[in-house]
Amino acid sequence: MDKNNIILSEEIRNLFNNREEIYCYDYDTIDSTNKKAWELLDNGINTPFVVTTKTQTDGKGQRGNQWQSMEGGLYLSLILNLNLSIEQINQITLFSIWGVVNQLRNLAIPVQIKWLNDLILDNCKLGGILCEVRTQKTIIKQAIIGVGINYQNQHPPSAISLEEWQSKNQFYGVKSLRQLKEDIILGILSGYQQFLNQRIERIIEDYNLWLKSINCSVLLDNNIQGKILGINEKGFLKIELLSLGAKTITYLSPQDYQISYYQKDDQYFASPRVKV
Ligand code: BTN
Repeated sequence: MDKNNIILSEEIRNLFNNREEIYCYDYDTIDSTNKKAWELLDNGINTPFVVTTKTQTDGKGQRGNQWQSMEGGLYLSLILNLNLSIEQINQITLFSIWGVVNQLRNLAIPVQIKWLNDLILDNCKLGGILCEVRTQKTIIKQAIIGVGINYQNQHPPSAISLEEWQSKNQFYGVKSLRQLKEDIILGILSGYQQFLNQRIERIIEDYNLWLKSINCSVLLDNNIQGKILGINEKGFLKIELLSLGAKTITYLSPQDYQISYYQKDDQYFASPRVKV
């Protein structure tokens, strides 16, 4: 294991009692960076800190899926102490994905979002975010923000890596895995800063601009026609229902519903999640 530090900007230092740096624990192979981050926290390491690894043997994806983690990809977890109501759980994902997408877009990489926490590039999956929390009663005390991004690793056929996109476009905004790692850490922290500074509205506004399916038609539960209007501050997807003649609004929780990757006959599909 290697321990190195990332120097924080003055604005970000203010969030952490003027700490000048954040420590990063870099491994060669571990089961999962999320798992390792909880372990290090239990061993008394002070938050915030970051865990990365070259490969994971049991990388965790959303809904209990495995996250394929071959060498060359970014596998990173950042752990924060928080004091938030459990009602705000999706806001952790919102500020994190905002920070990551904002950072990549500042490097002229036109990443989009698939609700709630997928990173999309050229209509393919570039990566995803998996947040885990520890609570005391109804208060979230710690959160781990786990980020997986395809950089120059092998990946499933429907996905894309940053290197493939960069070489196709002959544009190299991210020059190394090391740079990507630093940019993603600083991106998440700037998302956290926006959130603490009560700028959730700004986060939602940008999120909706970057949401791939915004203003598109959607078929809900296979029978109700609707239009996707964006997300609200809880991360729920706002849908205008059109089938019934009158205009009605409904909100889908990301814990209960998912949106298809692709459109068929110009529409997306919103269907209940299969519980695992
Ligand atoms: C998704 O399914 O879209 C989310 C994938 C998140 C994967 C990352 S890789 C680093 C961190 N450690 C894990 O075990 N999972 C997350």
